[in-house]
Amino acid sequence: MGPQMTAKEARQISFQYDGKSVELPVLTGSEGETAIDIRKLRSSSGLITFDPGFANTGSCKSAVTFIDGEKGILRYRGYPIEELAEESSFLEVAQLLIHGEMPSREELASFTDDVTRHTMLHESFGRFFGALPKDAHPMPVCAAAVAALATFYQEPENDQTIQEAIVRLIAKMPTIAAYSYKHFLGQPFIYPRNELDYSSNFLRMMFATPCEEYEVDPLLARTLDLLLILHADHEQNCSTSTVRLVGSSHANLFASISSGISALWGPLHGGANQKVIEMLEIIEQGGTVESFVERAKNRDDSARLMGFGHRVYKSYDPRAKILKGYCTKILEHYGKDSKLLDIAMKLEEIALTDDYFVSRKLYPNVDFYSGVIYKAMGIPVNMFTVMFAMGRLPGWIAQWLEMRNDPDFKIGRPRQVYTGANKRGLPS
Ligand code: ACO
Repeated sequence: MGPQMTAKEARQISFQYDGKSVELPVLTGSEGETAIDIRKLRSSSGLITFDPGFANTGSCKSAVTFIDGEKGILRYRGYPIEELAEESSFLEVAQLLIHGEMPSREELASFTDDVTRHTMLHESFGRFFGALPKDAHPMPVCAAAVAALATFYQEPENDQTIQEAIVRLIAKMPTIAAYSYKHFLGQPFIYPRNELDYSSNFLRMMFATPCEEYEVDPLLARTLDLLLILHADHEQNCSTSTVRLVGSSHANLFASISSGISALWGPLHGGANQKVIEMLEIIEQGGTVESFVERAKNRDDSARLMGFGHRVYKSYDPRAKILKGYCTKILEHYGKDSKLLDIAMKLEEIALTDDYFVSRKLYPNVDFYSGVIYKAMGIPVNMFTVMFAMGRLPGWIAQWLEMRNDPDFKIGRPRQVYTGANKRGLPS
C-alpha cells in the first residue's frame, strides 16, 4: 500500500445556528488543502449541506492523485504527470496507482507476465458478442462485457481473489475493447499474442485480420501507451465517483468498473473526445472557427466548445499540454492531413484570447487534442471513449481499493432537500 495521507484536524470552525453554537473540525491534506469535516453537522445542528454537482464536497480522503487546478498540476502518487509520461510504461503506472509505489524491475516483470497470461476471454464470450446488434456501439458493449466477467469469476471475495480480479481486468480490457470493435465491423476476433507488449497487443487485436500479418508500428504503440498513461487517473471525477459509489455497496470489482465505463460514456465526460472531432469536422465542412466560437458563447444555443473547460482545471490542463506537442509529431510521421489540427489550434487561439472564455477560465482539456491523435492513429471515432476507459482502468481500481480499505468507510448515501408536496389525501 502507498503512503497514508496525513489529513489531520488542524483547526475548528464554529457558527451559531438556532441559538446553538456548532463546532466542526477542519481537516488539512498533505498538500495543504483544507476541508470542513461535516460528519457531525446534522447530529449537532439538524442541518445538512446542499451542493449540486458536489463542486464543494470532498467525498473521501485519497492518497492516489493530486490535482491543483489553478496551477495546472497533476501527480499520480506524488510523481508529476510530465515525468511519468516521458519515462514510464502504462503497466508501470498501473502498478504505481494500484499499489502506491513504483514497481521494482522484478515486480514489473512479474505483473507484466501475469497480465500477459490472462488476456484471453472465455470462448463463451463469442456467444455474448453474437447476441448483440451488429452495429452495437463499442462503449456499452465494453460496459456489458466487463459486468459479464463477474459471471465467469464468481469466487467469494477475499484479498487473493480481488488481486486476481485486478489482473484479469487489466489483462482482458484490451481484448474486450478490440472485440467490441471487431463485432461492430463484422470481422473475426483476433486472439491476443503473448510476445507483444500491452499496447502493441491491443493494436494488433484491433487492426489485424486473419488474412494477413499486421506489424505494429512502435511509434503507434508508444503513442497509445502515452495516451493510456495520461488518462490513468484523475481523482474524484464523475466515473471514478461512480465506481466508488457502486463499490460502496460492496458490489464486486467487475460490477463497479462496469458502472464507471457507463458513466464515462457521457459527452460531458469521456465522450467529449468524440464530440471534439465531430465539432472540428462540422467546422471543416463549411463552418468557420469564428462562427462556432460565437455559437458556443450564446446561451440560447446548446453548442459548447467541446474539449474546453473543466470542473477542476482553471488553467491549461497539463495533459492537453503534453498531447498538443505530440499531435504535430504524429501527424508528421503519418503524413496525415493536419486540417483538423489546424482548426483545433485556431479554435484554441481564439478562445484563449476571448473574454468569454478567459473570464470563465475555460482552457483546453485532455480531450481537445486526444481525438485528433486517435484519428491520426487510425482509431475510429466510436472507439475514442473506449480508449479512455482502457486508460482509466487502473485509476478506477486504485480508487475502489482505497475506498474498500478506508477506515472511515461508509456506504455512499447522500441526503436531499425535499421540495415535493406536503402530506395530502388521495383525490376522491
Ligand atoms: N463552451 C462554452 N461555454 C462553456 C464551456 C464550453 N466548453 N464550458 C463551460 N462553459 C461556460 C458555462 O456555460 C458557464 O457559463 P455561465 O457562467 O455564463 O453560466 C460557465 O462556463 C461555467 O460552466 P459550468 O458548466 O458551470 O462548469 P462545470 O464545471 O459544471 O462544467 C464541464 C465542466 C462539464 C467540463 C464543461 O466545461 C463542459 O461542458 N465542457 C465541454 C465538454 C468537455 O470538454 N468535457 C470533457 C471534460 S474533461 C473529461 O471529462 C476528461
